[in-house]
Amino acid sequence: MNEGLYIGLMSGTSMDGVDAALVRITDTSISLIGYHEEAYTSELRSVLEAIVRANTIDLETFGTLHIAVAKAFAAVTQTLLKSLNITPKQIVAIGSHGQTLLHRPNLANPFSLQIGDPAVIAYQTGITTVGDFRAKDLAAGGQGAPLVPAFHHFAFGRGHSEHAVLNIGGIANLTLFTSTGEVFGFDTGPGNTLFDRWIQTHSGTSYDADGAWARSGNVSRGLLELLLSDQYFALAGPKSSGRDYFNLEWLARYQKRSSGTPISSADIQATLVELTACSVARSLKSALPNCKQLAICGGGVNNNYLLDRIRAQLLGVEIVSTDQLGIPASAVEACAFAWLAARRLSNEPGNLPSVTGAARSVVLGGIHHPN
Ligand SMILES: Nc1ncnc2c1ncn2[C@@H]1O[C@H](COP(=O)(O)OP(=O)(O)O)[C@@H](O)[C@H]1O
Ligand SMILES: [Mg+2]
Repeated sequence: MNEGLYIGLMSGTSMDGVDAALVRITDTSISLIGYHEEAYTSELRSVLEAIVRANTIDLETFGTLHIAVAKAFAAVTQTLLKSLNITPKQIVAIGSHGQTLLHRPNLANPFSLQIGDPAVIAYQTGITTVGDFRAKDLAAGGQGAPLVPAFHHFAFGRGHSEHAVLNIGGIANLTLFTSTGEVFGFDTGPGNTLFDRWIQTHSGTSYDADGAWARSGNVSRGLLELLLSDQYFALAGPKSSGRDYFNLEWLARYQKRSSGTPISSADIQATLVELTACSVARSLKSALPNCKQLAICGGGVNNNYLLDRIRAQLLGVEIVSTDQLGIPASAVEACAFAWLAARRLSNEPGNLPSVTGAARSVVLGGIHHPN
């Protein structure tokens, strides 16, 4: 491995903004040196939101956004470096995930579309930038996602104990460590995305702080069972998903089928939190019945009500934040892309075929030098 300082840049399906982590990586360790999170400007966020919702875009807007997102990623990098008094020359490389617009791994020509041109990031920061991480895994017949389990294995794996890591972003994904030392993982389904979108359409806020609104509602058991009957939840891994599947139109289709008394907005919010908690808990119980510990990362860790509901579904499993395992919950995904950049520069594989379903392990990402 090319040991040294790396930066990971991540913006997930929540489209809340860019997470940047500066880390020191060795063959056997990763340590977080600095972290900075910057929200997208409201203009950029609303354009991205509108495109993802409408699933349509004209080519000029597409090209412009590809560059605008890259500039936002480069700016976050520069702010992070400045705050730490570290120069671009000290950084081996940036790993940039980009911003997902559409994830379609199951088409005849499968793809996962991330924007945020790595050439622009490399040029503007003066740092070699690795991007386009999902493409090779998809080319090898994989889902191209989730990619973080390989990093969870590196950072949190510990021999043959049965434990798991859960990342709750817009979509939630699990990494499962088995007693035989094997590692599995998949997207369990929605993380925050449905209840984020639900509160966004009912109030001006972008998320339900601490899950307070959801906590004020009552779960509709009828609607919950209908939502859980969706075929995605019954599928075994490898599987991956996105906002193009789990969105308010998806919810509306099930609401139409739910009969009886109308359900209040707060009750729907509570039901959507329960859906995330139940789908995560069911996945964990069926894939790793003797799981001892679940470490949680991603923005959802801040939603106390969601965590309470996950705890209630997983009695007997110790629930911790990845903070307790050495990496702050908000920084794990960005750290993963820093590590994937290091893997790329050493020509080491970045995917786990047991997770993505790829035919074999492959080196992930394209390298853009600043010169
Ligand atoms: N204080 C909080 N209370 C409840 N939810 C929160 C809080 N802070 C962050 N979140 C949730 O975390 C999400 C962002 O998580 P993140 O891991 O950045 O997701 P993504 O990887 O999809 O960008 C927000 O959209 C919100 O749902
Ligand atoms: Mg985010």
